[in-house]
Amino acid sequence: MATERTLSIIKPDATRRDLTGKINAMIEGAGLKIIAQRRIRLTREQAEGFYDVHRERPFFGSLCDFMTSGPVVVQVLEGDDAVVRYREVMGKTNPAEADEGTIRKAFAESIEANSVHGSDSPENAANEIAYFFATVDIVG
Ligand code: PPS
Repeated sequence: MATERTLSIIKPDATRRDLTGKINAMIEGAGLKIIAQRRIRLTREQAEGFYDVHRERPFFGSLCDFMTSGPVVVQVLEGDDAVVRYREVMGKTNPAEADEGTIRKAFAESIEANSVHGSDSPENAANEIAYFFATVDIVG
């Protein structure tokens, strides 16, 4: 198994309910190390840039409104097959379809306010990590 890194975002619905600690416990319980972490408020420009691949989707504006509606916690996670492993821990995008024991089953409010983001491939993970973190700020 390859040691990988992935980008995680704890979204505004979760920071609003003070769930960062509980979500971090689930991440660490799944064997993923949090090797960088920062709580920030995304600007509109940052949110639109991050979700640029979804620009033509009908929910793009609403998603960017939501992601700028409160603080987020951006994180770099490291571990064996971290991209796939974290997506397993997160559960399905739509919490109605998420399995028991996943972060979204436990905490997500809707397909938009779904508590966490995780990169969907190692290539996207590298780009998403670089979007928020300088190499010097990642301590593996
Ligand atoms: S897809 O079809 O696989 O590209 O989409 P998906 O990865 O499931 O979703 C991409 C992100 O868009 C959010 N999303 C939505 N937001 C608002 N309304 C609707 N209907 C909606 N559908 C999907 C979803 O939460 C994903 O956010 P991230 O941060 O990437 O997990």
